[in-house]
Amino acid sequence: MATKTYLLAAFAAVAVSRSCENITIPITISAQNAVFGNLAIPTAPFGPTDVILDIIRTGGSPVLASTGTATVGGAYEISAQICSPEKGSGDVLQLLTHGIGFDKAYWDLAYDDYSYSYVDTALSYGYSVLYYDRLGIGQSSHGNPLDEIQAFLEVEALAEITRQVREGTIPGCNKKFSKIIHFGHSFGSVQTAQLSSQYPELTDGIVLTGFSTDGSFIPLFASGSGFETAKYNQPSRLGSPELAAPLDSVLSPDADPGIINTYGLTDYYAKPDTFEPLDYPDGYWVSRDTNNLVFDFLLPGHFDPEIAYYAESGKQPVTVGELLTIGSIANAPSMYPGPVLVFTGSADLPFCGSNCYAPAKSGRGNIVEATKALFPNASAFEAYIQPDTAHGLTLHYNATAGYEYINDWLEANVL
Ligand SMILES: *[C@@H]1O[C@H](CO)[C@@H](O)[C@H](O)[C@H]1NC(C)=O
Ligand SMILES: *[C@@H]1O[C@H](CO)[C@@H](O)[C@H](O)[C@H]1NC(C)=O
Ligand SMILES: *[C@@H]1O[C@H](CO)[C@@H](O)[C@H](O)[C@H]1NC(C)=O
Repeated sequence: MATKTYLLAAFAAVAVSRSCENITIPITISAQNAVFGNLAIPTAPFGPTDVILDIIRTGGSPVLASTGTATVGGAYEISAQICSPEKGSGDVLQLLTHGIGFDKAYWDLAYDDYSYSYVDTALSYGYSVLYYDRLGIGQSSHGNPLDEIQAFLEVEALAEITRQVREGTIPGCNKKFSKIIHFGHSFGSVQTAQLSSQYPELTDGIVLTGFSTDGSFIPLFASGSGFETAKYNQPSRLGSPELAAPLDSVLSPDADPGIINTYGLTDYYAKPDTFEPLDYPDGYWVSRDTNNLVFDFLLPGHFDPEIAYYAESGKQPVTVGELLTIGSIANAPSMYPGPVLVFTGSADLPFCGSNCYAPAKSGRGNIVEATKALFPNASAFEAYIQPDTAHGLTLHYNATAGYEYINDWLEANVL
């Protein structure tokens, strides 16, 4: 017991010895977004459910058909954190793009003294790390959730962040890196794959976690999420002070922590003076509660139940525009000539229907192995299935061993 405490203390000491900075990256971008001329941002009661019923509708739905394209864009701010390692030059940067349901904190969970932090693993291998809130999410600029915050524009945001890093023009970060590896999770992997196809010159290697090329499980994910309008689901955190006021009058800081968590009031009661609600408009949706989060992202028996509540207390929304365009990018073979690692949990629901070992429809191995067809020109390619793990890789007990596997692979194939 004493030994264990000592080891934990030693680990904690490692975890805090790093230098990180919060930065804001101004970007001006545009993209050819899809126009959904038959759909309005849902505001009616059960509006999100109405759209999900169309998404899962057998034979498709005319309401969701794209009616054209439009140039959309503007000037935005991206909220990011950049860290450099204690040991090593930090000359190679990993640029991390998170998935749906999270923000940049996905990569650096404070839970259990940062023992699930991907950032700590990458730093321990001597990489620098930059991770950011995707355009539209968290502390980055929000936007119109139907016409503007779509997959197409977010890929342009990722490309522009990369250009600024390469040119050394990011405020607070003028270091020039010898290589940049792009690393995604889920929707972040889809964007990373698209970046490698559209702008191959911008990246020296890509890692796609929680990824496959089979889009047929998206309706399962869409149904299982039980999406609700974010600002009504956790009014004090995702909504506004006005929406939170009625809750505040029936709850108190002494209420059951589970209930406080359900209503997104944990941070609010911890730091009432500095707490700022995210103020998401209609068209930004979150999964309903912790059970939905487990359904989408976790494999029961292989995670600490408390971490599910922790993730719920920090959950982030998806826009209706993102849901309708996630399948429109990274769906044609990429001629990317660099190294590619695909790394997906064995029981991933959104990308494998809870079984990644199942044979792919293409007949080219299992669902994860079949991703090779997307990268016919890769200089190195591996498809790896992480055992006993679902979509939310970082939330499972064995997360760190998986992250070490990835960084060993990068040492062998990219450096
Ligand atoms: C960065 O911002 C987060 C809040 O978003 C804060 O918790 C953290 O302490 C900040 N880190 C630094 C190094 O300023
Ligand atoms: C395939 O990769 C090589 C470098 O390995 C590159 O020279 C070539 O242009 C790539 N092919 C295509 C079609 O992009
Ligand atoms: C944990 O992950 C590593 C890396 O993928 C794997 O080798 C190991 O078998 C896993 N351990 C368990 C108990 O699943």
